[in-house]
Amino acid sequence: MEPDRELMSDTRRILITAALPYANAPIHLGHLSGAYLPADIYARFQRLRGRDVLFICGSDEHGVAITLAADKEKVTPQAIVDRYHAMNREAFAAFGMSFDNYSRTSIPLHHATAVEFLLEFNRRGILKEKKEKQLYDEKAAMFLPDRYVEGTCPVCGNPDARGDQCERCGTFLDPMQLLNPRSKITGDTPVVRETTHLYFPLGAYQKRLEEYVTRSDEADGWKENVLQYCRGWFREGLEDRAVTRDLTWGVKIPLPGYETKVIYVWFDAVLGYISATKEWALMKGRPDAWKEYWLGSDTKYVAFIGKDNVVFHTIVFPAMLMAWNDGGGDQYVLPANVPANEFLNFKGQKFSKSRGWGIDVQDFLAKYPVDPLRYTLATGLPEYRDADFTWRDFQAKNNNELADILGNFVNRTLQFASRTFGNAVPAAGPPGELDTGIRALMDRTPGAAAALFERYRFRDGLMEVMNLARGANKYFNDSEPWKTAKSDPARCATTINVSIQLARSLAILMSPVIPGSCEKIWQMLGLPGEAAHASWESARTGALEAGHRLGTAGILFTKIEESMIESDGAVPPAPPAEPAAEKITIDEFRKADLRVGKILRCEPVAKSEKLLKLQVEIGTEERQIIAGIARHYRPEDLVGRLVVVVANLRPATIMKEESHGMVLAASAPDGTLVLVSPVSEIPSGATVK
Ligand code: 2FM
Ligand code: ZN
Repeated sequence: MEPDRELMSDTRRILITAALPYANAPIHLGHLSGAYLPADIYARFQRLRGRDVLFICGSDEHGVAITLAADKEKVTPQAIVDRYHAMNREAFAAFGMSFDNYSRTSIPLHHATAVEFLLEFNRRGILKEKKEKQLYDEKAAMFLPDRYVEGTCPVCGNPDARGDQCERCGTFLDPMQLLNPRSKITGDTPVVRETTHLYFPLGAYQKRLEEYVTRSDEADGWKENVLQYCRGWFREGLEDRAVTRDLTWGVKIPLPGYETKVIYVWFDAVLGYISATKEWALMKGRPDAWKEYWLGSDTKYVAFIGKDNVVFHTIVFPAMLMAWNDGGGDQYVLPANVPANEFLNFKGQKFSKSRGWGIDVQDFLAKYPVDPLRYTLATGLPEYRDADFTWRDFQAKNNNELADILGNFVNRTLQFASRTFGNAVPAAGPPGELDTGIRALMDRTPGAAAALFERYRFRDGLMEVMNLARGANKYFNDSEPWKTAKSDPARCATTINVSIQLARSLAILMSPVIPGSCEKIWQMLGLPGEAAHASWESARTGALEAGHRLGTAGILFTKIEESMIESDGAVPPAPPAEPAAEKITIDEFRKADLRVGKILRCEPVAKSEKLLKLQVEIGTEERQIIAGIARHYRPEDLVGRLVVVVANLRPATIMKEESHGMVLAASAPDGTLVLVSPVSEIPSGATVK
């Protein structure tokens, strides 16, 4: 697209939400990189473009994530959410998130909003009441929803899959699907009991959801990873989803028979975006202002999330809004896009609150300034695949790019203006070749970066802007103003004039990513107001008149010394191993009958992206084994291969296929599975010990 047309694209009002993080632990760099930094860059960028932006977030304070944290610490769920809501709100502020409201789902306004939706759906007969069998912990005398149960994943065999989702293979699960389930409260094996819940008929919306995803993708270019997830769920077929839970912590349900139940956390959490907007409107003294965003047909709604939240934002939430809109009253906007990032890893392992692996934002910011962190994360956003955070990279980005390129350029320019031109903008003379070249780049960059930011390609957009900074630095070098100051003062004045204009442009274009530093540049340039309130388009041309008085130059970025990085774990402690396995005796180990198997045939399992159906020869016997390795191996590559099989595993039915055993695979930190195979030929059936 032409840069100029891009600059004129005409969406006016943009509603931006960032996933509401659970208030059960401090947010870490993985969160920032997944959803929050891209959302903030986008919000700041769109404000510079003159759009009417509303940027909403808050704490997700319900659900089992909270009650489990409370159980663990033996405090109330309220104590947990109060602590972490305050902590995360502060961490986000320190990180420079420009939310218009950071709300929380425990506020009465939110409970009322969630109840309003539930009752409306119930009144219109959309919700179906069903009796279902569910896991029950007899010792704790409670049903075990979601994460209250752990067990073996029926898809990939992960022995520690959670009841709601297997973190290893990403499959969304129902606790009843787990093999060998165990209660998180008592460790006991739960029993199955009957309970009643209200179900939302997701399947009834499948066709419309498919159309919605296709249409929105056509209009706004959805990310391929998000589309892949959606296609997978559509292929498997959407099913009814329970929207109530047997829990006491959450949004209470004013319906007879539901006194001891609450609304399912995801049903209420997504509505948190709406209630947080209502709260913002109240705080502004314009109680109806939320409607301009949620009910305005000219709103573009963009929901930023991490990849583990995709299904709820591309399927569950849109279906809920469609169901509401079908009532004919208020018509809510659906997300025009759901830009989800993959995960940021640290030393090859996923940041994880529950495993205590990662870097806490507040700890980080206690030692280092925020902008180098924002810049480093922005240049390495996991937009297409998982990415890794390293201290070395942080140091290199700060020292070699922010300090040596941007900081150096601004500093040299201002020092020169101060020493040679009385700290005012000198008048430019007729442009030479170098001036024309850099001005052309300055003219082009806002459009080129905007085209990428509009498509949620923040890394590439930032690269365009940094190229301008690089070009500016080179321009200064090549123009050699320290020589022309004597030999050709008019030429020197032109160089410094153009450099000052470039510094102003960079302050605008970099401000979505490093807002604090850009405000400093703005002040050093002696400009009124804030860089954040300038216009993106004005970065194309020089706006500072000759004679304009500059402010005081200062240091923008301080180099990070080697010793600091070393003491901060450039050589990090070994990653916490997977939760230490309990010690077992040799006899216990021998209970597993491990055999060499030879794969005779292999094919995909119908309707599954993850499973392969293997026919395996074990000595004289042939068995069918279902393995969750389809994302890692092509069926044709496996035929004839030797593997190690757990031969005495109880048979299981996985996706309607019988599985008699399990093949062993090693799991790499990035989730890749590698089959374990004998290194030399050996007949199948041989024991492994
Ligand atoms: O994954 C999480 O942390 C969820 N609390 C995200 C919720 S996003 C939205 F639905 F509120
Ligand atoms: Zn799994």
